[in-house]
Amino acid sequence: MKTSGIAADQRCPKPLDRAVIFLGPPGAGKGTQAKELARFFRVPHLSTGDMLRENIAQGTPLGIQAAPIMKRGELVPDSLVLKMVAHRIEQPDCMHGFVFDGFPRTVAQAQYLMILLRQNGYKPALVVHFVIDPALLLRRITGRRMCKVGGEIYNIYERPPQCDLRCDHDGGELIQRPDDREEVVGPRLLAYQRQTEPLVAYYRRLGRLHEVNAAKSVDQVKQEVLDIVRGSR
Ligand code: AP5
Repeated sequence: MKTSGIAADQRCPKPLDRAVIFLGPPGAGKGTQAKELARFFRVPHLSTGDMLRENIAQGTPLGIQAAPIMKRGELVPDSLVLKMVAHRIEQPDCMHGFVFDGFPRTVAQAQYLMILLRQNGYKPALVVHFVIDPALLLRRITGRRMCKVGGEIYNIYERPPQCDLRCDHDGGELIQRPDDREEVVGPRLLAYQRQTEPLVAYYRRLGRLHEVNAAKSVDQVKQEVLDIVRGSR
């Protein structure tokens, strides 16, 4: 099993006890870092993208509605996403906090989340904004490969697996997401600019926003994120 890269003596036994939100454009590294932070604090990594892809794979009514929308690189309607998230954070494994990756993505989602967290007794979320030059994103997105079994994230250019197209953790087949094709990247970035980027100003006004330089290496970003989360507890 691959380790988080964070030294064992740095492991923090104190619970996270809050929601952490990773905000940033497609390919900025949110999923990669959310997995690391969730492992570190032993809390769930809640990726709305993964949840939707799971629904698609299982052919649920939600998956059937979401599939064509995601294929076009557009956002799935709030009405569908909010119900899914509300159900997930009520599960007992979320009791000591969780890491959101890809949620919220609209101001309406953020407003709903604030109410949901309050209702479930959580303190206000901490928001980490992944700042990156858009020119770097295409290579990251088109080079990404995901493990079909455990969802581990690789990149054929930057973070290749040790064995060709097999996951280092569980040997699962590595696949390319349908929305990672070059022609879908433009619409995804546009959706981010129009619908999600306003959240940067929204959370900044609330005094919740912390920025990381997402162009740095995975280990450097990991350390920046950890410093922010530990410093804000
Ligand atoms: P989702 O799955 O959330 O995708 P995304 O937000 O577009 O983000 P990505 O997963 O593309 O990128 P990431 O930032 O996680 O980067 P990663 O760590 O993988 O959403 C998919 C779709 O679902 C949406 O388009 C929408 O349709 C729908 N959806 C989801 N949530 C929704 C919501 N709340 N509301 C409505 N619709 C929703 O890294 C990318 C690559 O870069 C990898 O190959 C990785 O190995 C590499 N990499 C990572 N960090 C580094 C680094 N520091 N240096 C070099 N390479 C790196």
